[in-house]
Amino acid sequence: MAETKPMILVTGGAGYIGSHAVLALQEAGYGVVVLDNLVYGHRELVEQELNATLIVGDTSDRPLLDQLFADYPIAAVMHFAAYAYVGESVTDPAKYYQNNVVGTLTLLDAMRGAGISCFVFSSTCATYGIPQTLPIPETHPQDPINPYGQTKLIVEKILDDYDHAYGMRSVRFRYFNAAGADPHGRLGEDHNPETHLIPLILDAALGRRDKIAIFGTDYPTPDGTCIRDYIHVTDLAAAHLLGIDYLLQGGKTEVFNLGNGNGFSVREVIAQVRQTTGRDVVAVECDRRPGDPPILVGSCEKAQKLLGWQPRYGDLGQIVAHAWQWHQKRHV
Ligand SMILES: NC(=O)c1ccc[n+]([C@@H]2O[C@H](COP(=O)([O-])OP(=O)(O)OC[C@H]3O[C@@H](n4cnc5c(N)ncnc54)[C@H](O)[C@@H]3O)[C@@H](O)[C@H]2O)c1
Repeated sequence: MAETKPMILVTGGAGYIGSHAVLALQEAGYGVVVLDNLVYGHRELVEQELNATLIVGDTSDRPLLDQLFADYPIAAVMHFAAYAYVGESVTDPAKYYQNNVVGTLTLLDAMRGAGISCFVFSSTCATYGIPQTLPIPETHPQDPINPYGQTKLIVEKILDDYDHAYGMRSVRFRYFNAAGADPHGRLGEDHNPETHLIPLILDAALGRRDKIAIFGTDYPTPDGTCIRDYIHVTDLAAAHLLGIDYLLQGGKTEVFNLGNGNGFSVREVIAQVRQTTGRDVVAVECDRRPGDPPILVGSCEKAQKLLGWQPRYGDLGQIVAHAWQWHQKRHV
């Protein structure tokens, strides 16, 4: 008889990365409950595409969490729910500390109340701040330059203290730039507003926007534009599955970078979109934006060694092709 796997709560499972993690969990045989307040999430992706149980609610709603943990035998929590607009976090930090820190704290305390001790957390390379070495290892100093990065760093510190005091074990994944879409076209990225480079360029390719801005062409990089590490969202989801398996098997608290290990410049990404879509994209050169480091690339050897994670879609062509397939399905 097939093994019955435990049930996992996925917060933010109606969002971009969370929905791909739900799919990966389901395909691996886990039971899944999604908690999402639908501020940015998509109900139809959870209820129709994934056919998963969706609880519409907020991580800061303690009575709702207590009821959820009483109703479902949750063995572990994957926590994607957060706000993630860096610029907005600078102009409205209260919104970010409230949701990303207080909301997470409420969730962790409800987990403690229910005796759940395994937690997978979406952290970010933004906790490193300006890189001092490249590729960035997990041991790099953490010195965020915006409130969004601060909120994630604060939660990382809370998780250390909760492990020490309460035995709550966690895996924190510090993602670089999530990109791409489910290779079978079932799920993908649909942020509103969108700030991520690849969907913005795809919007231009589809005629949904006139042009794309390149912020800074005089960086100390081979073509003068910023270099970023784009990690396929299906590879991120696969790492989360390994993280859950690791914790459920008794693994101790750990932190892992999740990236591609390769960087691509803004001009390279635009060129790839032009090649993949066969369409022209008007690119306008603009001044640098404050706070953009020239290069952000992570070292991901630790996840490969300790979790056995192996990114399958490291090629930029595949990342853009999958994103394009989804983008056309969603927006045409
Ligand atoms: N996208 C990236 O490149 C990237 C990089 C690094 C880290 N992250 C982190 O990964 C996580 C997921 O990012 P994403 O791109 O999928 O974002 P997303 O906005 O698509 O998904 C987040 C989901 O959480 C929900 N949500 C937010 N606050 C909530 C709350 N208090 N209670 C319940 N639901 C809530 C939203 O409705 C949304 O569906 C976030 O924590 C983000 O900080 C993302």
